[in-house]
Amino acid sequence: MSEKEKIDLTEIIIEHFDQDNLAEDFWEKYHAFNEKTHKELFPNDSLPNRKVVEINLVTGWPDYHVIRDFVYKDSSKKKIIAHSIYAINREDAPGYENNKHNSFFYILIDSRFRRQGLGKLLFKSIIGKVKEKGCKFTETDTYYESGKEFCKKIGGKLINEHTENRLQMEEIDWKVINEWRNEGKEKAPMVVLENFIIVPEKDIVEICELETNLERQIPTLDDKEKWTDIYTPEKKRKIERNRQKQGYINYTIISREYNGTISGMTEIRYSRTDRPERINQGLTGVLEDFRGRDLGKWLKAEMLVYIENHIPDARFIVTSNSDHNASMNSINERLGFKPFYNESSYKFRLTTVIKRMNKMT
Ligand SMILES: CC(C)(COP(=O)(O)OP(=O)(O)OC[C@H]1O[C@@H](n2cnc3c(N)ncnc32)[C@H](O)[C@@H]1OP(=O)(O)O)[C@@H](O)C(=O)NCCC(=O)NCCS
Repeated sequence: MSEKEKIDLTEIIIEHFDQDNLAEDFWEKYHAFNEKTHKELFPNDSLPNRKVVEINLVTGWPDYHVIRDFVYKDSSKKKIIAHSIYAINREDAPGYENNKHNSFFYILIDSRFRRQGLGKLLFKSIIGKVKEKGCKFTETDTYYESGKEFCKKIGGKLINEHTENRLQMEEIDWKVINEWRNEGKEKAPMVVLENFIIVPEKDIVEICELETNLERQIPTLDDKEKWTDIYTPEKKRKIERNRQKQGYINYTIISREYNGTISGMTEIRYSRTDRPERINQGLTGVLEDFRGRDLGKWLKAEMLVYIENHIPDARFIVTSNSDHNASMNSINERLGFKPFYNESSYKFRLTTVIKRMNKMT
């Protein structure tokens, strides 16, 4: 636990992140803050590549207006002590009609400066701004115990629980993997697996529909509260371009039925320059109509074989799963994935939370 440092909330400086007008030493201060909070959560992991971190901050998220603020302790602006962010759907985003009343936020405070009212102050400012933009709700995800306590205190409703699961490459049981590959081929003999890094133009519309549907079909604690993102070819290409800028490779395996339909997929993301030992498992899923033939197991097994044969630096695979997604968790458990961190998602109704915040001193 790091030592506390007193802050005077009347002295702090809050600045919008404006990529075109950054102070010369901004990145140095930001990396110091970012790396400290990263080590708090993942003390044994290596640090993210600074260049990639900078690209991520500047690039933003496709389909969202993302507003970031940085907090300095005082006007000397020696160090960044907190970062806050809120995001709302763009009016031209395909999911706008579904998501226009919702927003996402995140507040991260250097542990030395917590429990002195800064979180409350930043949250108050965020809910005021998203309300002005026409939102009725806001939500956040957090791994930190302090974040969970804070969200409960300020009136958040728990809407989902996830676990970050990790699989060490050296612990993979290759006998199980080979059995799953063989069973998959036996149970679905007319299905072929295909792979790509860039989505082929001929499949892009179908892949976007697949991802949209698969995400909708993931069970969560409260299915009524699910955020429904919609993938379109334009958005998908934007994501691909962003990943390329960051130096990330996105590798996907799909299952294609005899009639040509794409029934399932699994994807990973990795980099040769940003923590190359870490493989990020992305979306895996089989459409409801095509389940019950062990396709999910086959896809996951095939991906592990790819990683073993083609990514020599890989040491572990990281995946985040909803705790309420029984089928995916059962597959991951049998593959040897182990829980690493619990993450909780909270949703806030703005009118309720504003009243509550006004009552809190
Ligand atoms: C969550 C976070 C932003 C809160 O910021 P903060 O400045 O420490 O919070 P505040 O001082 O404004 O706390 C407001 C109230 O929340 C509750 N609270 C905050 N942290 C808590 C903790 N660790 N344990 C129990 N209650 C806590 C308290 O009731 C507190 O009021 P009190 O101190 O008068 O009892 C900060 O702890 C943090 O950066 N955590 C890691 C990042 C994170 O999880 N962010 C996601 C949530 S947005």
